[in-house]
Amino acid sequence: MKAVVCTKYGPPEVLQLKEVNKPSPKHDEVCIKIYATAVTASDIYIRGSQLPIRFWLPMRLFLGFTKPRKSIIGMVLAGEIESVGKDIKRFKVGDQVYGITGFGLGAYAEYKCMKETDSMHGCLSLKPANISYEEATAAAYGGLLALQRLEEGNIQRGQKVLIYGASGTSGTIAIQLAKYYGAEVTGVCSTNHLEFVKSLGADKVIDYTKEESENFIDRYDFMLDAVGKAKSSKIKELCKKALSSEGKYISIDDGKLELKSERLIKIKGLIDAGHIKPVVDRIYPMDRIVEAHEYVGMGRKRGGVAISIDHSN
Ligand SMILES: NC(=O)c1ccc[n+]([C@@H]2O[C@H](COP(=O)([O-])OP(=O)(O)OC[C@H]3O[C@@H](n4cnc5c(N)ncnc54)[C@H](OP(=O)(O)O)[C@@H]3O)[C@@H](O)[C@H]2O)c1
Repeated sequence: MKAVVCTKYGPPEVLQLKEVNKPSPKHDEVCIKIYATAVTASDIYIRGSQLPIRFWLPMRLFLGFTKPRKSIIGMVLAGEIESVGKDIKRFKVGDQVYGITGFGLGAYAEYKCMKETDSMHGCLSLKPANISYEEATAAAYGGLLALQRLEEGNIQRGQKVLIYGASGTSGTIAIQLAKYYGAEVTGVCSTNHLEFVKSLGADKVIDYTKEESENFIDRYDFMLDAVGKAKSSKIKELCKKALSSEGKYISIDDGKLELKSERLIKIKGLIDAGHIKPVVDRIYPMDRIVEAHEYVGMGRKRGGVAISIDHSN
């Protein structure tokens, strides 16, 4: 099968398209024919090994000290069940699925075997029926990140919710989820993305690049920092200070992402019902993954970036 391999940490050019052995499922695994994967902010950290200082040592221990232990990286996939081990109960051949491979990585490939049960090596669910495989990758990554944090925030109808970093993969879904929960939602992004964030349903938008935005900051019941601690601005700090006395701040970087298929199923339900629509900024073919990494590495993407996997050649 074709796969993108990463045999050392470094710039996007370390990624190479190669022919590798196709995996076969163990008794408790499914084999997924992958139609789309995603290039995420996490992949950029892993490939470049540019991890925040507090994660550097634990992540290197997990991922490989001098080079990636698993040469096929990538942690998001959408595809079709191609074969199943004898103990598989949740899925059957032909099911369309989406999910995250977590520390199992291996999603930059034509096929990936993984367990049907949740673990640090991933979680899987049937894919939302009304979206493409590429959109499903944004739903899996952005959806899991956003839903976990909004559940932790326990948002109530009518509350004032602020989503900082509203234009990224998790931010775009967080805006729509918070609206679905009945909150009054403010999205914070740069000038370029103001109209886009409004189009996702935000009641108000704030431009973090403009000094005068200070005047539009309200008192919030909940603030989700959807871009993470490495990206900040004066407006972000002022928004934190504008939380009500009972208000809660959660960063997408607070603790680890929980890989729960129960949440993927919930996200599927919300997408199937039309409450949420994942956003894909760009789609690249597998042989242009270096460009995709360059683009995502710039940190300005709008929603997700997907890699489409064509099995015909
Ligand atoms: N806790 C965990 O286990 C875990 C797991 C995975 C990911 N994460 C975290 O999740 C983060 C978000 O990932 P993501 O893929 O949803 O984000 P993303 O798509 O990479 O975010 C891109 C967006 O960030 C915006 N942005 C850039 N700099 C900004 C700034 N200073 N202030 C506000 N917005 C800014 C850009 O919009 P503008 O051009 O409008 O600025 C762009 O649209 C990752 O960076 C990582 O820290 C955590």
